[in-house]
Amino acid sequence: LEHQDLQDRGASMDALAVHYELGDDFYALWLGGDMGYSSGLWTADTPDIDAAQDNKADYFASRLDVGPSSRVLDVGCAWGGPAHRLAAHHGATVHGLTRSPAHAGHVNGRGVPGLSAGLEGWADHEPTAPYDAIVVLEAMEHFAQDGLPAADRREIYSAFFDRCHGWLAPGGGLGLQVFCLENVGRDAARRDTPLVRLIRERVFPEAVPPYLADLVEAWDPVFSVEVLEDQTSDYPKTLRAWRRALVANADAAAAITGADVSAMVARYLAAGEMLFRLHEWSLYRAVLRPRPKRRVLG
Ligand SMILES: C[S@@+](CC[C@H](N)C(=O)[O-])C[C@H]1O[C@@H](n2cnc3c(N)ncnc32)[C@H](O)[C@@H]1O
Repeated sequence: LEHQDLQDRGASMDALAVHYELGDDFYALWLGGDMGYSSGLWTADTPDIDAAQDNKADYFASRLDVGPSSRVLDVGCAWGGPAHRLAAHHGATVHGLTRSPAHAGHVNGRGVPGLSAGLEGWADHEPTAPYDAIVVLEAMEHFAQDGLPAADRREIYSAFFDRCHGWLAPGGGLGLQVFCLENVGRDAARRDTPLVRLIRERVFPEAVPPYLADLVEAWDPVFSVEVLEDQTSDYPKTLRAWRRALVANADAAAAITGADVSAMVARYLAAGEMLFRLHEWSLYRAVLRPRPKRRVLG
């Protein structure tokens, strides 16, 4: 598939804008201090969402050996919470990709040395030098449009992992956090229920969470698995923290988006908590290592 086809088969910028362009100040009310928009990592003594977000970034930093000399690509960086942590705390040079103008503006506006973002999809990205690490934290959910046949979705995921493989320096690695459709059957995203409609029409149009099996099939030719963990129990805690903060700031939120939209987002956060609690959706974290270029065995 050509660049443009790959881009066109993912969520469009208009579709992404439905959720991500509701106003940075709206998200600042409830995402937590660094505006990470992916699940945190909670241990028994994690006090709050900010600590959980740091834990998540540190988890990938330590497994991918991210330090002061590292060049890191963050695909789908949103407002740059984890990218900020990798740059400011771990000293790496981090470049984020996003297809949301608000995100690129916010990340570049942080003015953090070594941190930048480009308004560019992964299919168009041409690195100037290889990366030591690539992180993809809940962005793959947007890469293949809801409604595409399964074979087409797998083809897109394969193209993505092939690109990442080509972008990594020797010894590099790919950190992946992704939520997947789990105990819902293969036609889950097609079901016409109020919850599926809410998510498809008002929260994440043109997006669909992958199935783990499709991801594994797509990465396996070019990556081996170093870590693959189901850490679904992290997401209800994250969603609850976000929703509590949103409800506590309901008036300010409604003043920004209108009461209908902020209440709809709160409903989505509650529904998401339920989906992860029931394990209908799962949260995976993976660390993948590029396979060596194929050798001829005589
Ligand atoms: C849920 S947010 C990611 C959260 C972020 N990684 C974090 O942990 O804070 C999804 C991001 O993926 C981006 N995105 C969607 N499609 C993309 C594509 N084809 N290429 C690059 N980024 C994409 C969106 O613009 C958005 O910034």
